[in-house]
Amino acid sequence: MSDETIANLLNEERTFPPSDAFRAQANVSDPDIYEQGRDLEKFWGDYAEGFEWFRKWDTVLEWDPPFAKWFQGGQLNITVNCIDRHLNGPRRNKAAFIWEGEPGDQRVLTFADLHREVCQAANALKSLGVKKGDRVTIYLGMVPELPIAMLACARIGAAHSVIFGGFSPDAIAERVQDSESNLVITADGGWRKGGVVPLKANTDEALRSCPTVKNVIVVQRVGSAANCKMKDGRDHWWQDLVRDQPRTCPPEPMDSEDLLYILYTSGTTGKPKGIAHTTAGYLMGTARTFEWVFDAKEDDVYWCTADIGWVTGHSYIVYGPLANGATGVMYEGAPDHPRRDRFWDIVEKYRVSLFYTAPTAIRTFMRWGDSFPNGRDLSSLRLLGSVGEPINPEAWMWYHQVIGKERCPIVDTWWQTETGAIMIAPLPGLTVAKPGSATRPLPGVDADVVDQDGNSVPLGSGGFLVLRQPWPSMLRTIYGDPQRYRDVYWSRFENLYFAGDGCKRDTDGDYWLLGRVDDVMLVSGHNISTMEVESALVDHPAVAEAAVVGKAHEIKGQGVAAFVTLRSGHALSHDMREELREHVARKIGAIARPDEVYFSAELPKTRSGKIMRRLLRDIADGRALGDTTTLADPNVVKKLRDQYESTEG
Ligand code: WT7
Repeated sequence: MSDETIANLLNEERTFPPSDAFRAQANVSDPDIYEQGRDLEKFWGDYAEGFEWFRKWDTVLEWDPPFAKWFQGGQLNITVNCIDRHLNGPRRNKAAFIWEGEPGDQRVLTFADLHREVCQAANALKSLGVKKGDRVTIYLGMVPELPIAMLACARIGAAHSVIFGGFSPDAIAERVQDSESNLVITADGGWRKGGVVPLKANTDEALRSCPTVKNVIVVQRVGSAANCKMKDGRDHWWQDLVRDQPRTCPPEPMDSEDLLYILYTSGTTGKPKGIAHTTAGYLMGTARTFEWVFDAKEDDVYWCTADIGWVTGHSYIVYGPLANGATGVMYEGAPDHPRRDRFWDIVEKYRVSLFYTAPTAIRTFMRWGDSFPNGRDLSSLRLLGSVGEPINPEAWMWYHQVIGKERCPIVDTWWQTETGAIMIAPLPGLTVAKPGSATRPLPGVDADVVDQDGNSVPLGSGGFLVLRQPWPSMLRTIYGDPQRYRDVYWSRFENLYFAGDGCKRDTDGDYWLLGRVDDVMLVSGHNISTMEVESALVDHPAVAEAAVVGKAHEIKGQGVAAFVTLRSGHALSHDMREELREHVARKIGAIARPDEVYFSAELPKTRSGKIMRRLLRDIADGRALGDTTTLADPNVVKKLRDQYESTEG
């Protein structure tokens, strides 16, 4: 964010208390709940009693910082709690998923359907030799087979590693290798803006460097449009493999701390981190926050617009809603296909009542204009959510007025891939909302804001956001690298979880998130590491050196700005700029494509040779340059700035 945006954020004084009508029906309306959250073991132990266990736990929490064990000694299967548990009653034939494909096709899966399809897919995995403890990579678009595949893994005790369908072959290969998956589930292709995403072709390319993979299951989604080739002995059509499998599959008893999934997220180095989530605590964290923050009721129709390839989809399309027996809408495609009112069309059509999206989407809708939402009946909505990055007050107000018609509480939810579940957010029946603030840590969440030395700062001041106590849905480690887990999250401050976010608390104690303090950019709310983009750039033969920084972007929150030094013999040109942008998109995925590429004969460095990204950020955002005294050659930055300004306009 720019300094100006931050200043505006912090001067926000509008407040929005819950309406009496909302408060009267809210799932949580007793403020004493925050007090109850202080006794972690009782708070979570009582809640866990409401789930199905093969064996109850011995201890609620064993905390040996930074390693936590929740519900140790307990055994359960998350799919029993998300599916089977709902089959003996009125939820049996209730919709679990209402799915809409981008071309307009539809499927409704009741809990009974979901049970059958998950069991059949689980049996199919078993037939290919997948067993408890294995890892399975899933690279699919937003089709029903995606949650089915995840749950099928969980049914038999294999950990899933879902890779966002927008990622490139290199990104897939890196993640498959790191997780040592032996099976990949993909599709012939996916629909996006009327075109085909070549999922199978990307998988084939990735698997050239993934010797652990013995089998690939391919969902048929786009048919002849993908023109995909099957490899004998390795590739199997999902539909053929699954069709005749038995319709039941006994759930594997899992220890509470058995690995449920790995999800890769960008870190401050080039190598993505495999965030490891385990079974029982993750279930408790996602289930409870879903019920409380979204105020979910039996009759709600809930729609989270995220892609399941990100943690938001894992926790709040799949596990949290299913654990509550909720009906969730799932949409495959783009918000502007075929028209810019597609989302509002879906809200109207399925009478969506709880709607969860990202600030980048909200800003896009704002720019498209009010006529699109105004042309649809949005009266079914009763609560709106936001996630992914700080929401600017203008976007909050637009969301409140144009989408929520000033009736719907807005829950701005702060959390991370690492936290597994929402940590800081309003309880919509209790909390006074403020545009741009995620408000309070949820009951049971012990957050704080600290200075450089780890000391808590007084209300009204800013610093680093930390968490002081473990929580059930916390990451347990970085897959295969416990030392990195310690280093990244628990070394900055002793025994405090370092979230990597700047944060200010106002005098009421409300939290205002200020963006990342590390070298991670938030592009459309997704973590992209500057190092990752830099490595992709220097991989290009023409590039000698590259430095990448986030730059304020009106729609995406942050865009990617690249400063590049070319090897001698390569000409600076528009074509080269485009080539480098495409190169990054190919190496990582379109989301990481630099918005801007600046060529420079030199990059600003300290005398010890460290690139000063802080200065590049100032240049990219057009700010006054900060302290330049440690630069080896102050002229470099002056030249860069002049050049930047001459190309900008
Ligand atoms: C980072 C985590 C959690 C799902 C999506 C992103 C930023 C997320 C908010 C919010 C301010 C937010 C933080 C965080 N972030 N939600 N409501 N207000 N910032 O997951 O890719 O792991 O990114 O997203 O900077 O650290 P992620």
